[in-house]
Amino acid sequence: MDTEDKGSRERNQEDIRIRQQSLSGKSRQERSDVDGFSEVEDSSDKRYWDKRFVQETLYGRDKELSIRVLTHKRYSVRKDDLVLWTVNLLELRGDEYLLDVGCGTGNFLTPVIAQLNNEGLAIGMDISTGVMSKAIQQCRSAKGKVKFTRGDAESIPFRDESFDVVMANFMLYHVSDILKAIGEMHRVLRRGGTFLVATGSKTSYEEIRQVHKEALANFPDSQLTPISRSFGFYRFNLENGREYIERYFSPVDIFSFPDALEFEDPKPFMDYYTTSRVYRDALRDPAKLDRLYDCVADIVQRIIDERGKFRVRKLSGAFVAKKESN
Ligand SMILES: C[S@@+](CC[C@H](N)C(=O)[O-])C[C@H]1O[C@@H](n2cnc3c(N)ncnc32)[C@H](O)[C@@H]1O
Repeated sequence: MDTEDKGSRERNQEDIRIRQQSLSGKSRQERSDVDGFSEVEDSSDKRYWDKRFVQETLYGRDKELSIRVLTHKRYSVRKDDLVLWTVNLLELRGDEYLLDVGCGTGNFLTPVIAQLNNEGLAIGMDISTGVMSKAIQQCRSAKGKVKFTRGDAESIPFRDESFDVVMANFMLYHVSDILKAIGEMHRVLRRGGTFLVATGSKTSYEEIRQVHKEALANFPDSQLTPISRSFGFYRFNLENGREYIERYFSPVDIFSFPDALEFEDPKPFMDYYTTSRVYRDALRDPAKLDRLYDCVADIVQRIIDERGKFRVRKLSGAFVAKKESN
C-alpha cells in the first residue's frame, strides 16, 4: 500500500472513531496523536467555550472575526459565496420571523435581510456586544427588517415558538452545552419551522496546521503548549453535527460545500493566521510569537515560490431540518 492510501485509510478510521465517540466527549485516548499533534485535553481548552472568555476575549471586538470573514470572501476559490449558498437553502418566502443565534458581525444576516419583505423580521442575537456592534452598523440601512439583542444560546430570551426560522452558523463549538443550545433553538422555533446550522469539517485547514507544525519545529518542545484538538471544528463539525441535531429534529439533511483558500502572497494569509487564538497560544512564551509568525510567513513564501500559490482546502456545509408539525 502506498503512503497516500495508508494516510487516507488512517483518516477514514479516524472518522469512524469520531463518529462512534459518545456525545459526552469521551474516548480522548483513541483520538490522540492524529497528524502528530498532541491531543492532551489541556484545561485551558475549556476557555474556548467559556462564556466570559468567548464574550470578552475571543469576540470582545469585531476585528479578528471581520478579518476572517473578509479573507473567506476575497480568497475563496469558489465564487458562489458560501454565505449566500447557505441562506438560499432556507428558500425564504420573505415574510418570515428569523432568529440568527451567534450572529457575530452579521455576515449571514445581510443576505437574509435582502430576501425579506416588509412582513418579515430578522433578529440577530449574540453573547458579545463587541462583535454585534459591527452587525448593527452593517445592517443600518435595513431598519425595520432587523433587530438585535444580546443573548445566550443556552438560554434564548424569546417565548416558545416565536420564529419561522432559526439559524446558528459557525458558533455551536463555542457553546458549553451544545445540546442545551439546540434544545433552546428547537423551543423558540414554531412547528413546521426551519432550523439551519452551518459549520465546517474537521478535515478543513489541514495545510495551515501543517505549516504551523513545521514552524513550531524551530522551537524546543518545552516551550510548546498542547494544540487544542477539542476546539472549533473538532468540537462541532460536519462529521458529528447530525448526531447532536437529531436529538431534537428528524430528519436532518446535510449539504456540503467543498472549497479552498488560495494565497499568492503571504501577507493576507498571515493577517488571517494571526487572528487565530489557538495558533497564537501555541507558545508558552508570548515574547517568541513574532519569531513564530516570521517562521510561518517564510514557509508560506517558500510554498508560493515552489507552487505559485498556497492552497488551503476547506469543507463547509449546512444541516437543515424542520420542527415536527404536531
Ligand atoms: C465564529 S463566530 C460566527 C459568527 C456568524 N454566525 C458568522 O458565521 O459569521 C461565533 C459567534 O458566536 C457567538 N457566540 C459564542 N457563544 C455564544 C453563546 N453562548 N450565545 C450566543 N452567541 C454566542 C460569538 O460571540 C461569535 O460572534
